[in-house]
Amino acid sequence: MTPSESEASSPLRWGIISTGHIAGVFAGNLAGSRQGRLMGVGSRSDASAHSFAAKWGIGREHAHGSLAGLLADEHIDAVYVATPHPMHHDAVIAALRAGKHVLCEKPFAMSLAEVDAMQQTAREHRRTLMEAWMYRCHPQTERVRAMIADGAIGRLRHVQATFSFHAQFDPAGRLWDRRLGGGGILDVGGYPLSYARLLAGAAVGQPFAEPEVMQGVGVLHPESGADAQASAVLRFPGDVTAEISCGTWVNQQNRVRIYGSKGSIEIPSPYVVSREGDPTELVWHRDGREEPEMVTITPDRGVYAYEADAFATAAAAGAMEVPQCPWADTRGNVAAQLEWCRQVGVDYA
Ligand SMILES: NC(=O)c1ccc[n+]([C@@H]2O[C@H](COP(=O)([O-])OP(=O)(O)OC[C@H]3O[C@@H](n4cnc5c(N)ncnc54)[C@H](OP(=O)(O)O)[C@@H]3O)[C@@H](O)[C@H]2O)c1
Repeated sequence: MTPSESEASSPLRWGIISTGHIAGVFAGNLAGSRQGRLMGVGSRSDASAHSFAAKWGIGREHAHGSLAGLLADEHIDAVYVATPHPMHHDAVIAALRAGKHVLCEKPFAMSLAEVDAMQQTAREHRRTLMEAWMYRCHPQTERVRAMIADGAIGRLRHVQATFSFHAQFDPAGRLWDRRLGGGGILDVGGYPLSYARLLAGAAVGQPFAEPEVMQGVGVLHPESGADAQASAVLRFPGDVTAEISCGTWVNQQNRVRIYGSKGSIEIPSPYVVSREGDPTELVWHRDGREEPEMVTITPDRGVYAYEADAFATAAAAGAMEVPQCPWADTRGNVAAQLEWCRQVGVDYA
């Protein structure tokens, strides 16, 4: 049974590791969280920690110019790891050993060995650990999952999902420098991939499904060698197929389209959904009806606040895994992303 939000008694006190882009977005969303509050930050520099703290209302004594400083702060219960992907593993292991619960940005890790070590450390220290797929915690995603499970479009047949944007090339930037985990598959390919896994699982009454087959193609950036666009076709158990694509040098329509034996669902804003808690819509086509039905979801907080609250609910219940992002799913996500990378010619080893 999923523990209810009301089980969390006192708010979870968050520390954020990094002062980068998504660290600020998460800090802003925490203001809308029901079960958490922002308490501290850890950066590589004092100056950055203090300026982040001033911006987001963190007390100066909880603004740390080192990871070690944040982890030694006894007023912090949980940390949100928002560094580039190759730094996730070391920060997560150190935080778990320091007794903190950990929400770690996607992609969770750079290898399966890293995933196993991170999950094993959480097990040993009995801490909550979650890969930060915020969209999984949003009511829109739960609505879609329930519609598929309930047969709203009949039997699930096919999924099309894309997350692709155009970023300026910067050889030293984390999107392009492979030493920083550069490449679209690791940065955003996991969104369409994990969404397809979620839907294929929902169709057979499971939290996720592993693909039986995956075939990827891609184009590498001529200077950095990072994947700049990539696509893959997949087949899941139950005769479900998927087409997924991602990229860092081409804007696409970032949508999820789900086709079944009796209709289809289009999700215009599937991933970075209602960042500020604004309403969102699904387009539900039913075979035999001329007009689609618009399904409106009205959230009461931003998507990262839902994520923080799903995490806090699990932590308060003493659960190591958060139901929206089970550990086996995380391992499968990383395995599939690395295989997709391998197929397009990118190797981070
Ligand atoms: N869930 C989402 O919606 C979402 C969105 C964007 C990104 N992400 C994920 O979040 C992570 C961070 O992405 P971001 O866009 O926030 O990156 P970013 O803006 O480049 O920030 C990364 C931060 O990590 C810290 N850092 C530690 N070691 C570093 C190193 N060697 N090089 C550069 N920075 C280092 C830096 O903060 P300090 O200087 O304070 O140490 C830096 O500001 C990535 O894994 C990404 O995939 C998730």
